[in-house]
Amino acid sequence: MILPIYTFGQPVLRKVAEDITPDFQNLKELIENMYETMSHADGIGLAAPQIGLPIRVVVIDLDVLSEDFPEYKGFRHAFINGHIVETGDETDLLEEGCLSLPGIHESVRRARKIHVKYLDENLEPHDEWVEGYLARVIQHEFDHLEGHVFVDRIGSLRKQMIKSKLVNMMKGNFRCSYKVKIPR
Ligand code: NI
Repeated sequence: MILPIYTFGQPVLRKVAEDITPDFQNLKELIENMYETMSHADGIGLAAPQIGLPIRVVVIDLDVLSEDFPEYKGFRHAFINGHIVETGDETDLLEEGCLSLPGIHESVRRARKIHVKYLDENLEPHDEWVEGYLARVIQHEFDHLEGHVFVDRIGSLRKQMIKSKLVNMMKGNFRCSYKVKIPR
């Protein structure tokens, strides 16, 4: 089922998301709905707060990048109760976008390597260092779990330059090709 994506200005995007507990119901269905919602909107990552749920569930699909990054062929994974434990010192500056901020693309500086802990879709625990493009996408998605969006991480001058776009977005004055839930 395709769910509406909550856009910039929705309070849920500013909440710190909670770990889910073992008695959480319908996790498989939630993950399937998140994959479907993400691919319908041509996204490569989606965090549960973006569909209105303040819980630590993220889906990432990097298969579309496999022409440039063959290592991501068929890469489609859920990250449950994910946390970044530590980040490496080296950083990269790369352009990002977000399904919750349609039409905005800005360069963001992020660590090249991160140490993450999470459960996969079968609730198996993982504790690993991740690098490259996946490390960037995980940082973007896990930011959503901490109540951050990528424009929080851009320079103040760039932020000033997109301010009117953000104000319009909060009022629902924007276009995009997928179903959204705007702030009211
Ligand atoms: Ni995002």
